[in-house]
Amino acid sequence: MLLIKLPFLNKKTADQTNKQKLKQDNLPEHVAIIMDGNGRWAKRRGLPRFAGHKQGMDNVKNIVRIANKNKVKILTLYAFSTENWKRPKSEVDYLMKLPMEFLNTYLPEMIKENVRIQTIGDCNELPIHTRKSVQEAKERTSSNNGLILNIALNYGSRYEIIQAIKDVATDIKSDNLSIDEIDETLFNDYLYTKHLRDPDLLIRTSGEQRLSNFLLWQSAYTEFWFTDAYWPDFDESLFEKALSDYQQRKRRYGGI
Ligand code: IPE
Ligand code: IPE
Ligand code: MG
Repeated sequence: MLLIKLPFLNKKTADQTNKQKLKQDNLPEHVAIIMDGNGRWAKRRGLPRFAGHKQGMDNVKNIVRIANKNKVKILTLYAFSTENWKRPKSEVDYLMKLPMEFLNTYLPEMIKENVRIQTIGDCNELPIHTRKSVQEAKERTSSNNGLILNIALNYGSRYEIIQAIKDVATDIKSDNLSIDEIDETLFNDYLYTKHLRDPDLLIRTSGEQRLSNFLLWQSAYTEFWFTDAYWPDFDESLFEKALSDYQQRKRRYGGI
């Protein structure tokens, strides 16, 4: 009865439970996020889609900080897919300006926080200004040894796998590799993610429950977590809820 009259007590208890659980170990080392829902976030407010993308970009900084605080080692963020080129040119142009804008605003902070910036995806197809600012960020953070902020930019998993197959075939043709040597470990070395462990936890915002061509090979045994919140609204309490839910999961990898 008392709890019904004082519902905030319930909330406080839930938050405290989250914090207590996050103190334990078993946190995911690699978190991947499909940052979806910027357009709907804007539409709901009567704003143009680009306003949602701008708000989403600012949220990246918050999420990097929270990942760092919770000792996440790798944060992979899906920023632009190989299918996103289908969008109107004006939206694509805007999205391609965001990495530069993000880095102009936040790179000094990232450097201070010991974050190392990397990318996965085909950078060659990016406009020159996008490519240059991303390259500069990678170089300026290359000796940092804190959180790896891995941005999936012009990334598509099927494209990645096809490229890997072509590279394997080329190495066989030039006698640098024999067919017998091909196994999962070797194939992994031909992917953009070769230097990274597979994601432990994959989060998708905005209520959609699909991979949209993200890390198909790498997420074979990843834990999935979905929320209806749009990306600009994905905040500390939701992120920490995802982390604490992950801690409750039992990963079996096919065993018992
Ligand atoms: C995610 O938000 C950002 C990118 C895909 C680049 P969307 O732009 O997909 O937003 P919705 O899904 O249309 O709301
Ligand atoms: C996935 O979102 C890609 C990114 C978040 C960058 P989309 O909005 O492009 O995915 P679909 O089209 O709804 O599957
Ligand atoms: Mg979307």
